Amino acid sequence: MAPSPPETPAKEHTSELTEAEIAVHWKEEEGFIPQPKFIGQANLTDPAVNERFSLEHFPECFREFGDMLTWDKYWTQTLDSSNAPFYQWFAGGKLNASYNCIDRHLAQYGNKAAVIFVGEPEGEDPVALTYNELYARVNEFALLLRDFAGLKTGDRVTIHMPMVAELPITMLACARLGIIHTVVFGGFSGEAAGRRAADSQSRVVITMDGYYRNGKMIDHLQNLDVACETAKSEGQVVDKVLIWQRYPGKVSSAKPLVPGRDFLVNEAVKPFKNKIVAPVSMPSEAPLFLMYTSGTTGRPKGCQHSTGGYMAYAAGTSKWIQDIHPTDVYWCTADIGWITGHTYIVYGPLALAGTTVIYEGVPTFPDANRLWRIAERLGVNIFHTAPTAIRQLRKLAPDGPKNFRTVFKNMTTVGEPIEPTTWHWFYETVGKGKAAVTDTWWQTETGGVVCTTKPALDKMKPGSAGPGAPGIHCVIFDENGNEIPPGSNRAGNICVRNPWPGLMQTIWGDPEKFKRQYFVKYNKNPNSKDWRDWPYFAGDGAMESADGYFRILGRIDDVINVAGHRLGTKEIESACLTVPEVAEAAVVPIMDEVRGRLPEVYVSLKPGIQPSKAIEDKVVRAIETEIGKIARPSAVRIVPDMPKTRSGKIMRRVLASISNTMEVGDITTLANPDIVEQIRLQVQGTGKVQTKAAAPEIKDFGAKSE
Ligand code: PRX
Repeated sequence: MAPSPPETPAKEHTSELTEAEIAVHWKEEEGFIPQPKFIGQANLTDPAVNERFSLEHFPECFREFGDMLTWDKYWTQTLDSSNAPFYQWFAGGKLNASYNCIDRHLAQYGNKAAVIFVGEPEGEDPVALTYNELYARVNEFALLLRDFAGLKTGDRVTIHMPMVAELPITMLACARLGIIHTVVFGGFSGEAAGRRAADSQSRVVITMDGYYRNGKMIDHLQNLDVACETAKSEGQVVDKVLIWQRYPGKVSSAKPLVPGRDFLVNEAVKPFKNKIVAPVSMPSEAPLFLMYTSGTTGRPKGCQHSTGGYMAYAAGTSKWIQDIHPTDVYWCTADIGWITGHTYIVYGPLALAGTTVIYEGVPTFPDANRLWRIAERLGVNIFHTAPTAIRQLRKLAPDGPKNFRTVFKNMTTVGEPIEPTTWHWFYETVGKGKAAVTDTWWQTETGGVVCTTKPALDKMKPGSAGPGAPGIHCVIFDENGNEIPPGSNRAGNICVRNPWPGLMQTIWGDPEKFKRQYFVKYNKNPNSKDWRDWPYFAGDGAMESADGYFRILGRIDDVINVAGHRLGTKEIESACLTVPEVAEAAVVPIMDEVRGRLPEVYVSLKPGIQPSKAIEDKVVRAIETEIGKIARPSAVRIVPDMPKTRSGKIMRRVLASISNTMEVGDITTLANPDIVEQIRLQVQGTGKVQTKAAAPEIKDFGAKSE
C-alpha cells in the first residue's frame, strides 16, 4: 500500500517541489544499530553474505537455501532458466514439504511444541501441539483426503478456514500427498471462496463450522452453500466438503449439513486414527499451493508457488531474517489466509523446527493489551506483525506494553510502510529498545521477503524497508526503462533484476498474463531466454537512498492496500455494479490513520432513480457479499455523474483527490469539468477551495485506471 499521511515532512510543500521531494514523506533518519545480545545469538552474522550472494555468484548462491531442506533426491541444476521468465529452481530434485516441516524434526524435537493455538476467549487455555502430535494429526488427515475424499497428487483443494491449528494440519496433509491447496482468507465471503474453488477446479472444499471473532462465535458454515453454488455456476461441482468443528463433537453452526456432500472431519477421520501415510516425493517444481491475489484487472489471480524453490526460500528467509531457532517462540499475527501466514506462520517456521503461535481472534479483544498478555504468557521472543496493528494498539493503549514482562529479540513488520513515529513507539515501547525492528517488503507473488535489513548485520532505518534480501538485486526504473541511481532522490518503479527461488512460477491457468503483468514492461527482447532480460516488475513505487535502502511508496496500479490486505478496485467496482440501481461505480483509496487506506465508493445511478440511504446500504451489502467485510468502504457517495475524459473514461484520480481533500489538478480536458466542483461540494461540504498538494501516491502512484 501507499504510505500514511505525512507526519514529519522533509520540507514544507511548495509549488516548486519535484515529484521526488513530494514523495519523501518523512525525513531520512539515522540508522539504529542492533544490540550485541541479539547479534550474539543470531543465525546470520557473517558480513561475507553480501559477497556470497552478489550477482556474480547467482544463481549458485541459493544452494545455501536449498541445503536447508532435506531432499529425497538432490537437485542437478540450481536454476534452469532456459524458458525465462518461467524458472525451475533446484531442477531434478525431489522432496516433500510436510516431511521437511514435520518428519525430519521428530527424532530431535518430537516432544517440542510445533504449534501453539490461542483461542480468542481468554477463558480457554492455549493448546500446544508437539511435533509428534502434529505428525499424527497430519497423517490421519492426509489419509482422510486420499481414502475418504478420493484426492490424489496434483488435485486442487480449496480451504476456507479461520485461524485455528487445524488449518496448518490441513495444509500440511495436502502437502504430504502433493495435493495443491488454495487457502482462502476466512473473512472472505462464500462467493469469493466459490470463485477461487472454480478457478482452481477444486472438487473438495475444507472448512470449519465456526470461530471466535471480537467476542462472538461467527457461524462460518453459512458461507459454504453459497461457495458451492458460486463454484457450480462457474462450472465446478464441489462434491465433497470436509468440515472441522471448532469444538469437536459440538455443533457451532446453524446450517444443516447437505447429505452426501458435507462430512464432519471428527467423524470421518475415525478409521484413520493412528495410521501413517508415506510422504509423496514431489519434483522440486511441482506446485505446492495457489494463493489468489488482487491485480490490476478483473478477478483475483492464482499465484502458483513451487515445492522446492518456495520451501527453500521460506526456510532461508525465516532463518536469516525472522531469525528463528528451534528454541524460539515465534508469533506472526497475520492470517494464514494470506501469503504472510503461509510463509511465516506455517512453512518457514516449521521447516526450521520452530514453535509457531496461532491466535484465533482480533488484537483488541477484549482490550488493547491482549497481544502483550499472550506474548508474556507464551514467552514469545520473535514478534511479526503489521504496521496497522501497531498503530491501532498504540492509539488505544500507548503505555500498555510497559506493564508486561515481554522480551522480544526481533520484531518484524510487513504489509505497509511503517512510518517513523509508529516505528519509534514499536522500537522503544514494545521492544523496550532491545529488539531489532525488521521491516520486510514483499508480495504474494514473491513468496518471501524481498527488501529487508538483515537484523544482525544492517542498521535499522525507520521508514525504509532496507536493501534487497540476500540474493535479491533490486533496481528502480523510470517509465522509459532508465535506471534511477541510488541517492538521486527520485521515485520510480521497483523491480528485481534476477529471479529467486520464492518467486511464483506462473498464474494458475494463465502463463501469458504472468509474463505480461510482471515481466514485459522492462523486457527489451521478447525472444530472449536469458534471465537478465526479464526484470521482475513489482507494481510498487519506490525510492533508493544513497546507502541502497529502499523506501516503498505504494502501489502504482489499481490495488488498494487496506490494513496490509490487498484489494482490487475493479473487484469492488464489479460488486457495486451487482446493485440493479447502479449505473457506474468508481472506487478510490482514502487515507486512514490506522488502516493506511480504505476504499471509498462513488456510484452514479440509472436514469430516473433517486439517491437514497437504502441504495447506499445496498452497495455496502453487495461489497460484503461479493468480497467480504474487509472491503467495506469508508463511504458510498451517490453522485449525479462521474468526471470523465472525452473518451468516456472515469477520472478516478480526480475523485481520489476530492476524497482526500487534495488539489484536483488540471481538469480542463474533462468532458464534464463542472461536475468536479459539484462533487467536491457534496463530499467536502465546503465552499473553500482546497490547496493541499496532492500526495504522490494519489497523484503519481495512486488510482491510475483512467
Ligand atoms: O504495496 C506493497 C505492500 O503490500 C503489497 C503486497 O501485498 P500482498 O501481496 O497482499 O502481500 C502482503 C504481504 C507480503 C506490496 O506490493 N507492502 C508489503 N510490505 C510492505 C509494503 N509496502 C511497504 N512496506 C512494506 N514493508
